[in-house]
Amino acid sequence: SLESSLSLSLSRSLSLWAQSLHAWGKIFVMAAEKWVYMVTAQTPTNIAVIKYWGKRDEVRILPVNDSISVTLDPDHLCTVTTVAVSPSFDRDRMWLNGKEISLSGSRYQNCLREIRGRAGDVEDKEKGVKIDKKDWEKLHLHIASHNNFPTAAGLASSAAGFACLVFSLAKLMNVDEDASHLSAIARQGSGSACRSLFGGFVKWEMGSKDDGSDSIAVQLADEKHWNDLVIIIAVVSSRQKETSSTSGMRESVETSLLLQHRAKEVVPKRTLQMEEAIKNRDFASFTQLSCADSNQFHAVCLDTSPPIFYMNDTSHRIISLVEKWNRSEGTPQVAYTFDAGPNAVLIARNRKVAVQLLQGLLYYFPPKSDTDMKSYVVGDNSILKEAGLDGANSVENLQPPPEIKDNIGSQDQKGEVSYFICTKPGRGPVVLPDQTQALLDPETGLPK
Ligand code: DP6
Repeated sequence: SLESSLSLSLSRSLSLWAQSLHAWGKIFVMAAEKWVYMVTAQTPTNIAVIKYWGKRDEVRILPVNDSISVTLDPDHLCTVTTVAVSPSFDRDRMWLNGKEISLSGSRYQNCLREIRGRAGDVEDKEKGVKIDKKDWEKLHLHIASHNNFPTAAGLASSAAGFACLVFSLAKLMNVDEDASHLSAIARQGSGSACRSLFGGFVKWEMGSKDDGSDSIAVQLADEKHWNDLVIIIAVVSSRQKETSSTSGMRESVETSLLLQHRAKEVVPKRTLQMEEAIKNRDFASFTQLSCADSNQFHAVCLDTSPPIFYMNDTSHRIISLVEKWNRSEGTPQVAYTFDAGPNAVLIARNRKVAVQLLQGLLYYFPPKSDTDMKSYVVGDNSILKEAGLDGANSVENLQPPPEIKDNIGSQDQKGEVSYFICTKPGRGPVVLPDQTQALLDPETGLPK
């Protein structure tokens, strides 16, 4: 009857009203609370030796092929991120390298939504913090992120950045998922970020499901597995603004036939061979595969319409130098790989080779006259001493590498390389428990 349905709807509204009063009461109590609860984490960057180039799904960020990377030592290249939650925050906010940025982009929103959906209960008795799983939907976050390398260097910062965002939020929100599951969330921030959830040698499996749940990163071997490798990055100066990876790969997918062939025929075999090479620490195969894959990726860029040029003359000169040296030694000593920019990432088979490599590089690419060597070779610069390059005039005294008889370009390339970074394969993400390393103030939750 009308009467009973009226009373039913009245009691329904009453109970809804009571429920919302309860919820509001809770928010009110929370707002009266002062606490700021936070977590700080550090995450490495990575360099692909089998490249990711091309998406089959632009929104979920699903690739057209598998890729394999080496994680770089976070002591030299990393992102540190502090994430904080407090009932006193009125909206989600983020600061990148000290500057506030917008979180409205879909990549940030997708990561935040995915991680909030997996949040658990959190309790810190000492601080008087008690957060219920379902409270995370209402609570707001402050995020501060910092790269320990200059963004201007053109080194991929989005990989370490999104990996660190997802990893630190997972810790803050007590998300009970393993690194591979977290990698599928970081992937939605930036494809290459999924590989930064692990140390050592990592494969991003492209997966086949439409929802992307099987497009995840897995660790092939940890950083100790092959620890005599030394990595030298030449940060090559460039005037031109490069095409972003995101738009570059979209144009390649739309226009390059070579990309289709690469994804279908080349990478599947190469990935298996690379896994074997890593497992057996087979440096000759590792080098052959890395160099070939880097060159094919840049060939795909040239095959794109209009063509995309990421490497420049300096990059090409470095390739010739390494190719000549490897050939003259009879067996490969150094692998090279280039991402979406002119910087060379050189992987030497051991420390002794790295010392010779650095001497050769500094012979061809000496610093400008007034440059301090310690700012020209950064990261693990103890290598300078081993190379006898820590004294004054030491670069001027370098001899041309004997095997390179013909002229790659004489010793007059001053300024072509901005600086070198010496590093090695490194560990995966870690929480930094030391409060002094936090980027947000523990009282206000604002950048320090
Ligand atoms: C050349 O991961 O930066 O470095 O997924 O659009 O964010 P989005 O692209 P991004 O692309 C990286 C491309 C690459 C190769 C690689 O890292 O595998």
